[in-house]
Amino acid sequence: MPNIVVVGAQWGDEGKGKVVDLMAGCFQAVARYNGGHNAGHTVLVGDERFVLHLLPSGILHEGVLCLLGNGVVIDPWALEREMEELTSRGVSVAELIVSDRAHVILPHHRVLDALAEEQRGARRLGTTGRGIGPAYEDKAARRGLRIGDLLRPLALGERLAEARRHAEQILRGAGRPLEIDWVDLERQLEEFGRRLGPRIGDVAAILNRQIARGYAVLFEGAQAALLDLDHGSYPYVTSSSAGVAGACLGTGVPPARIDGALGVVKAYTTRVGTGPLPTEIGGQAEEALRARGQEYGATTGRPRRCGWFDAAAVRYAALLNGFDTLALTKLDVLDELDEIRLGTGYTHAGRALRDFPSDATVLGECEPIYETLPGWKQSTLGVRAFSDLPPAAQRYVERVSELTGVAVGLISTGPEREHTIVRTGGAVAAWLGGLGGA
Ligand code: IMP
Repeated sequence: MPNIVVVGAQWGDEGKGKVVDLMAGCFQAVARYNGGHNAGHTVLVGDERFVLHLLPSGILHEGVLCLLGNGVVIDPWALEREMEELTSRGVSVAELIVSDRAHVILPHHRVLDALAEEQRGARRLGTTGRGIGPAYEDKAARRGLRIGDLLRPLALGERLAEARRHAEQILRGAGRPLEIDWVDLERQLEEFGRRLGPRIGDVAAILNRQIARGYAVLFEGAQAALLDLDHGSYPYVTSSSAGVAGACLGTGVPPARIDGALGVVKAYTTRVGTGPLPTEIGGQAEEALRARGQEYGATTGRPRRCGWFDAAAVRYAALLNGFDTLALTKLDVLDELDEIRLGTGYTHAGRALRDFPSDATVLGECEPIYETLPGWKQSTLGVRAFSDLPPAAQRYVERVSELTGVAVGLISTGPEREHTIVRTGGAVAAWLGGLGGA
C-alpha cells in the first residue's frame, strides 16, 4: 500500500488542501508533519468552504484517521477553536490524534515573533505572527513545552517556569513588559491536557503499526519546499522541515516506508511575506492575476505576490524532494491571458546559473529567462479529462513537465473536488487506483 507525501513545490499556497482532500478518502490515515496554524488550507466541499490551519485536510473525510505529528507546533487555543468550528459545521473530529512529542506554542511566542519582526525593520520576514519561529527556537534550545507535558502537572510547571525566565529575559532586554498571568496560563494548560488527553498519543508508534498492517498513509506537508528551513530561500523561510524528508522527521516513520512524493505547484507562482520572488510580474498584470486567482492569504488575508511559473525554482524543489509527479493547480486562472510566460532559468550578473542560488540576496538579483507560450483564451473551468483541454493549455502543461523534469499527474481546473483531471497512466492514477479510488 503506498504511503505518499504531498509537498508544496513553490513558496506555499499551491492548493495542497484541495489535493490532500481529494486523495484522502483513499487512505486510512492522513498525517500533518510540520508547521502549525501558520498554514491555511482551503477546501471546498459542495457549497461549503473550509479553511484548515492546523488540522490535516483529511479531517473532512469520515473514517480517516488524522494525526498531528511531532514535527508540528500546536497552539492549543487555535487547535480547540478549529475543532469546535468543524464540529459546529457537522464535521467529526473524533478520529484526531495529537503527538505527545509535538511542541506547544505559548502566548509569549507570539509576542516574541512580533518583537523579532519589529527589530528586523526593513529586513522583516513577513511572518504570519503566529509564534511559529519562537516555538521552534525553544524546541531546538531544549526548553520547549511538549503536548505530553500537559498531562504531567509537575513537568508542566517546570517547563513553564523555564519558558517564562527566557521570555522575560529577552523582553526585559528590549524594554518591553510581558503581560501574561502565568498562574492562570498553567491552569489553562492543565485543562487543555485534561480535555485533549484522550487524543494525545505516540504518533510514531501508531503510524508504524498502521503501516505494518498494510494501511496507506498520506503525509500532508504545510508551507512549501522553498520555505523549508534548510533548503528554502533563507532567511525568508519558515522554521520547520517542509519537504519530503520532513515527513519522516515530523512523524517518526522511516524513509524506507515512504513510497512516493507528490509536488503541488500552481500554474503560476505566488508568495506571501517578504523575500525574493524572481518571476514577480508587477503592475497591472500582477494585479489582474491576483484578482482572478483570489490570491489573498488564507491565514492572514494579505495579498499574495504573483509571478509567472518559475521552472528553475520547481526543478530545485524536485531535486530536493524526488517528486514522482506534480499536481498542477489553478490552470483555469490563466484562461483569459493572451500570452503566458514561463521562467525557464536564471541569469545572475550576466551569467546563466546552473544551480539554484543558496543566498537570498543573489536569488533576489537573478533575472529570469522567459519563454512565452500562447494563451488558450477559453474556459477550462471544471474540465475533467486532459484531452478536453484546449491544445494550448495541453501544451502549457507539457512544457511545465519538460522544464521541471517531472510528469504532471493531476491538474486542478477549479476549486471543487470534481474540477480535477487525474491523468490516465500517471502516478496519481496508479496510487489511487491501487487504493481502489480512481
Ligand atoms: P512563519 O511561518 O509565520 O514564521 O512565517 C515565515 C514565512 O513563511 C513568511 O514569509 C510567511 O508568509 C510564510 N508562510 C508561513 N506559512 C505559510 C503558508 O501556509 N503559506 C504561504 N506562506 C507561508
